[in-house]
Amino acid sequence: MNHVTKDICYIGVNDHDLDLFEGQYIVPLGMAYNSYVILDQKIAVMDSVDRRFGEPWLKNLEEALSGRTPDYLIVQHMEPDHSANIALFMEKYPAAVVVSSAKAFTMMKNFYGEDFADRRLVVAEGAELSLGAHTLQFIGAPMVHWPEVIMTYDRADRVLFSADAFGKFGALDTEDPEGWACEARRYYFGIVGKYGAQAQAVLKKASALDIQVICPLHGPVLQENLPYYLNLYNTWTTYGVETEGVAVFYTSVYGNTEKAVHLLEEKLKEKGCPKVAVSDLARDDMAECVEDAFRYGKIVLATTTYNADIFPFMRTFLETLAEHGWRGRKVGLMENGSWAPTAAKGMKALLEGCKDTAFAETQVRILSSLSEENKAQIEALAEEMLR
Ligand code: FEO
Repeated sequence: MNHVTKDICYIGVNDHDLDLFEGQYIVPLGMAYNSYVILDQKIAVMDSVDRRFGEPWLKNLEEALSGRTPDYLIVQHMEPDHSANIALFMEKYPAAVVVSSAKAFTMMKNFYGEDFADRRLVVAEGAELSLGAHTLQFIGAPMVHWPEVIMTYDRADRVLFSADAFGKFGALDTEDPEGWACEARRYYFGIVGKYGAQAQAVLKKASALDIQVICPLHGPVLQENLPYYLNLYNTWTTYGVETEGVAVFYTSVYGNTEKAVHLLEEKLKEKGCPKVAVSDLARDDMAECVEDAFRYGKIVLATTTYNADIFPFMRTFLETLAEHGWRGRKVGLMENGSWAPTAAKGMKALLEGCKDTAFAETQVRILSSLSEENKAQIEALAEEMLR
């Protein structure tokens, strides 16, 4: 049995057959759908798992129960990777009650045609549920990252069940060579990034609690060095700069824009830039590029003019940043165009709504391939980005 504390067991599952998480994120290390059971005088199960894992999840639960019967299914989040097996559970345990927010019950009806009107307990911010020795306290977490979300704090074991917050991509039976932060950052900015203010509000509420363990719905249970995770979440939810350096994002058709980018990389390094992260938007994972744009305080965008506009992958990237609430960065622009370059203007326009964006004065304008003048512009841009 996989114990988190003496009374709390992990009963989640690992998924290695998923092509795209939430229909868009590659998950080379698989994915974990976490679920927990709290064994007390009363028994509470925390969330279900993805549709395809109903049976193994119930089997894990049965093993943890050792013949007992659960009293509550606490539904913290209605996204189907966690809610898909509510009906299966309720059918198997006909005396159990579903505990969730009012909004979640509306969603339950819409998703699954059933909202358990006579077997439910609606909870809101501050509500408590006693299981015996364990008292659960519910915390509203609207828009982290859906409106119905609640988190749950177990006062006895000082455990925060944090719903999707503090989650990461990757199955739990697969070692992540990069450690926790890389896939947690890609997950956070891809999925929750737009809702920094709401996530920050929940962190503030959580800061009043004595938390020893964080049990998220994805990724590992966090038990040691909690300030590390909390500090990162504080930086991410406030759109702060995590790593000093410059992230450079480009597209290139015949290699000339790429050559300019590599020259910029060389110049930045020569001038002492602590880290230069270069991404090819047509070939690298878009979600990885998005997390880098949030991670660094300075970015350079280099692209070609295309149909009197900008190259498609750069357009998608900038639209995604704007849609995710990206803000507060310094931006350098490099454009290429064989007869009428307009890409810099197009990139600027796409970032217009991004708060506190400052553009570098130096702009690199390439007419097909690098000229001597371009080389001087790149040198000047590198200098300006490091100021
Ligand atoms: Fe893991 Fe928002 O679902």
